[in-house]
Amino acid sequence: MPETPAASPAPDTSAPLVLGIETSCDETGVALVRGRQLLVDAVASSVDEHARFGGIIPEIASRAHLEAMVPTVERALDGAGVALSDVDAIAVTAGPGLVGPLTVGTSAAKALALALGKPLYGVNHVVGHAVVDELVHGAFPERVLALVVSGGHSSLLLVEDTVRVTELGSTLDDAAGEAFDKVGRLLGLPYPGGPHIDRLAREGDPGAIRFPRGLTAPKDQAAHALDFSFSGLKTAVARWVEAREDAGQAIPLPDVAASFAAAVADVLTAKTLAACERLGVGTLVVGGGFSANSQLRDLMTERAAAAGVELRIPPIRFCTDNGAMIAALGSAVVARDLPPSRLDLGVDSTMPLTQVLV
Ligand code: KG4
Ligand code: ZN
Repeated sequence: MPETPAASPAPDTSAPLVLGIETSCDETGVALVRGRQLLVDAVASSVDEHARFGGIIPEIASRAHLEAMVPTVERALDGAGVALSDVDAIAVTAGPGLVGPLTVGTSAAKALALALGKPLYGVNHVVGHAVVDELVHGAFPERVLALVVSGGHSSLLLVEDTVRVTELGSTLDDAAGEAFDKVGRLLGLPYPGGPHIDRLAREGDPGAIRFPRGLTAPKDQAAHALDFSFSGLKTAVARWVEAREDAGQAIPLPDVAASFAAAVADVLTAKTLAACERLGVGTLVVGGGFSANSQLRDLMTERAAAAGVELRIPPIRFCTDNGAMIAALGSAVVARDLPPSRLDLGVDSTMPLTQVLV
């Protein structure tokens, strides 16, 4: 896959050059960022190698990272026209993610930091999904609300001064993308099902079937107003499909997809904008692979505008896993003079979202 040259504002040549490495799942991402300017973003993906298993196989992902690492670093350096010796700091995903893949990335980052004598920063993948937007839409205001939605996460974060994070809510069971992939499997769609459901949903009637909206009942308001739950919805879709099949009736795939996608988008947007209102935050960033979902994008655009909230969603290539998000967060951490990580830094598959830097 070719590296993607960035279209960014004028370079800030005085800021440190940060190399970012991302390997938490199935994408090997390497990027170079100076200040908030992206110089290059190179990505290699092993997603095709997992498709026949219907999910990510960590051992296959780890081996693919190992094979892709050196060529992807070289492609990034070539693309930016810089030498390894020009790099001022190395940022790497320390977690959350898959232990094997994270270990490959952190090992490469440690080797580079040691060989170059440059500081190493082990940073949080989920926070990177939000902060990457600074490369696209400029510096964050003092307080930003971030919704990070992917195959592994559905999290609502309050982000202050770019690098201080409070977790406001998260999913109690499946992530939004995971729910789409599971419903995709039960509808007989290829893995990952998310984009297929999105496509089908555009042809269906979102009001055809009233599926449940998890954790939106009055009784959930006290403890889980800003948390999500999608497993009950997934079960409701399965029951609905089974009942139809038992009755020998055809399944109207576009209507099922549209009604399911509408339920997910409704809950994600309602809770996120409720959080903006509750905290008095006027800027919302949506990131993570699931932010590619058109039902979520459309409804969030409509509801954010109605609420007077500025909505920032990076282009899709920055929403799926990539190195730019890690370089962007690394650059923000370096700019604030936060202390580097130790060279014996470990990976943390369940790294808390409040921990931005190890
Ligand atoms: O962030 P990401 O690339 O990888 C993870 O860290 O999980 O997100 C991938 C997830 C998958 O669950 C995929 O099905 C979902 O995002 N996804 C979508 C769409 N594009 C990707 N789900 C619904 N609609 C889409 N257009
Ligand atoms: Zn991710």
